[in-house]
Amino acid sequence: MSKIITLLLLLAASQQPTLACDGVIGQTARTTTTRDWWQSAQFYQIYPRSFKDSNGDGIGDLPGITSQLDYLKELGVTAVWLSPIYTSPMADFGYDIADFFDIQPEYGTLDDFDNLIQEANKRDLKVILDFVPNHSSDENEWFKKSVRREKGYEDYYMWHDGYVDDAGNRLPPSNWLQGFRGSAWEWNEQRQQYYLHQFAVKQPDLNYRNPTVVAQMKRVLKYWLDRGVAGFRIDAVPWCFEVLPDATGRYPDEPKSGYTDDPDDSSYLLHIYTQDQPETLDMVYQWRQLLEDYQRIHGGDTRVLLTEAWSPLDYVMKFYGNRTVEGAQMPFNFQFIVGGNGDKNNTQLPASGFVKIISSWLDNMPAEHTANWVMGNHDQRRVGSRYGEQRIDTMNMLQMFLPGVSITYMGEEIGMTDLDISWEDSRDPAACNSNSEIYEQFTRDPARTPFQWSNAENAGFSTNSTTWLPINPNYVTVNVQTEKAATKSHLTIYNQLVALRKTKTLQLGDVRYSAFGDNILAIKRSLKNEKTYLLLANVLNSDATVDVTRELKVSGNFKTIISNMISTAKEGDVISADNILLKAYEAIVVESE
Ligand code: GLC
Repeated sequence: MSKIITLLLLLAASQQPTLACDGVIGQTARTTTTRDWWQSAQFYQIYPRSFKDSNGDGIGDLPGITSQLDYLKELGVTAVWLSPIYTSPMADFGYDIADFFDIQPEYGTLDDFDNLIQEANKRDLKVILDFVPNHSSDENEWFKKSVRREKGYEDYYMWHDGYVDDAGNRLPPSNWLQGFRGSAWEWNEQRQQYYLHQFAVKQPDLNYRNPTVVAQMKRVLKYWLDRGVAGFRIDAVPWCFEVLPDATGRYPDEPKSGYTDDPDDSSYLLHIYTQDQPETLDMVYQWRQLLEDYQRIHGGDTRVLLTEAWSPLDYVMKFYGNRTVEGAQMPFNFQFIVGGNGDKNNTQLPASGFVKIISSWLDNMPAEHTANWVMGNHDQRRVGSRYGEQRIDTMNMLQMFLPGVSITYMGEEIGMTDLDISWEDSRDPAACNSNSEIYEQFTRDPARTPFQWSNAENAGFSTNSTTWLPINPNYVTVNVQTEKAATKSHLTIYNQLVALRKTKTLQLGDVRYSAFGDNILAIKRSLKNEKTYLLLANVLNSDATVDVTRELKVSGNFKTIISNMISTAKEGDVISADNILLKAYEAIVVESE
């Protein structure tokens, strides 16, 4: 028996809630009659270092991004999220910020940034910045002042004496581990204390129990809002607060997780004292309030928050807010990354696995909120490498067809895949802090290779002889220029999906989905008085035939409008809902006649 799930799409502004049926999980419709710009938006993540190099140094930059805004516009993008562009020694490629109020010189200047915003606005494109609240760089003036115990900065960071054992050895305050291997505490000779860094040694954690820090970080938000950004993606939110020390000043050790025997690996411990604290939620609610206040004073469109949390779902859902307070509009939905087989290699995931992933979000999302779909990002392997190259279009179809916000990581629209990076070429601290034997388990470099614009030298990314990370040799065929010119390519399919997303049914309609055996995943989007659309995907490597009439509550004929690279179906081909043959890995979108 296939599982049937019906949901009234939460975006369906003026509709009444539908009744759930057959073990269905239903949710109430939004009660508002308007739909805000972001609720069915197409977000696009740019990793600036790898997008487009304008000055021939082998590193992407802001003018490079500005030069490609027309590409983004053509791609249907509503808002661009830029990974960090601030001044940084690049220990974690911009997630270690030395100056929250300025631009990294390799990427350009504040003038270049203002120009980017201006040019984006001309094209009705919004720009979202990465806000990194948990930590700064150790090269930030704030940290230097804190090391010197300058007035007002003494408690800007998480300092602690640690302990000295009977043998006179200095010991860190607790067993806490950093995200990039090893202790989360680093001894500072000058201050004669340990500081906490939940990521690299060069990324000291700010102290959110200090109101001056909270106010300072709000200043950061206001500064960039004043420069015209439409919101923020909030980095590593769950790490902002740690538990308070006990009465003797001791931080509790975290328990072992049992997941790994490697005591330096952060997953060696369960992070019950260093992540997901209740105070963190309140901080996000305060930031949302700041955006609301800003809009009230300055006008303009809603400013948005997207939060990054790899926490348990019940905690993630709390970022949306609660009955009394609003939170982030888009707590990232990472279910397509963490779900499935759990080992992040989902090439064999059957249709029921996809259903599980989809329902994990839709069934748990609080009423009156909007779903979002993230397939990948700069921290993960490429979608085609995780789900299999045969399913690249299927994943883009899902991303664009499911109700709510779509968030595409640059390059997924052309089907870029991971490049194996040698130990010598590795740049990511997550890899470089390990060793040549094991770095591939941790490295995030494979998904960060330069964007593939054309089949020209260096994929049209840079005129330099070398680039900061090597270019995937598949650029010869996998690139924007070639795919644009092709009759059918990942890019042309993506563009068809963009057009489909503009229909009322996709923007406002209900969703119903079901797995049929191991092979077939079928999703229906429907809206009264509008066309009904079906996404029919064979997710495995064998042919299958299916009758979707009963589970999807449809009948009659449907016309093919989009098909994946594997499919030989032509636009206009007619199929009958009770007898659909899909070849191995074939995926199509059909519309009611
Ligand atoms: C987030 C970023 C990641 C970075 C980390 C520390 O997870 O996405 O790239 O390394 O935070 O800032």
